Amino acid sequence: MISAKMTEAVNRQINNEMYSAYLYMAMSAHSSSMGLNGFASWFMVQYHEEMFHAMKQYNYVLDQGAEVHLQTIKEPPKSFASAKDMFEKTLEHEHFVTKSINEIADLALQEKDHATYQFMQWYVNEQIEEEKNDNEILQMLKLAGESGPGLFMIDQQLGARALTVQSDFSKGILPTAP
Ligand code: FEO
Repeated sequence: MISAKMTEAVNRQINNEMYSAYLYMAMSAHSSSMGLNGFASWFMVQYHEEMFHAMKQYNYVLDQGAEVHLQTIKEPPKSFASAKDMFEKTLEHEHFVTKSINEIADLALQEKDHATYQFMQWYVNEQIEEEKNDNEILQMLKLAGESGPGLFMIDQQLGARALTVQSDFSKGILPTAP
């Protein structure tokens, strides 16, 4: 059983992950409308990853005998200035998520809640990977440019990203999932 304060913190994080999914879905839609189908596909893969992150926390709250409290998901931006703008906003958002994950891990240490501390380590590692990917893509956009053949090449590359997490949650989160 986790504390009421920890339950509230993990529930808030479920909302953060759901907003992340919503934000990347908005970026996917915007990419499609710009004809950037590779970017659209990359962001849709990221949407599924974020839903997986949320569902993993949802299951954790239930496994701890606590209550899931779903909250309002705020509206993401409707449009973005450019492909680079989307990745700058992605990186900025992931910095916020990393801070939030660290705060939950800090709370777990304070409460000597080893189960939640261990659970959050998966997210700590995931955030390193996410920020690294976003930084690399931003770097490519700066080097190859934001239009013409450079952008086309990046679009092709992003389109090759494959989904590596489970996306059907009808049976919960399977133990074999990452
Ligand atoms: Fe679930 Fe992008 O962090």
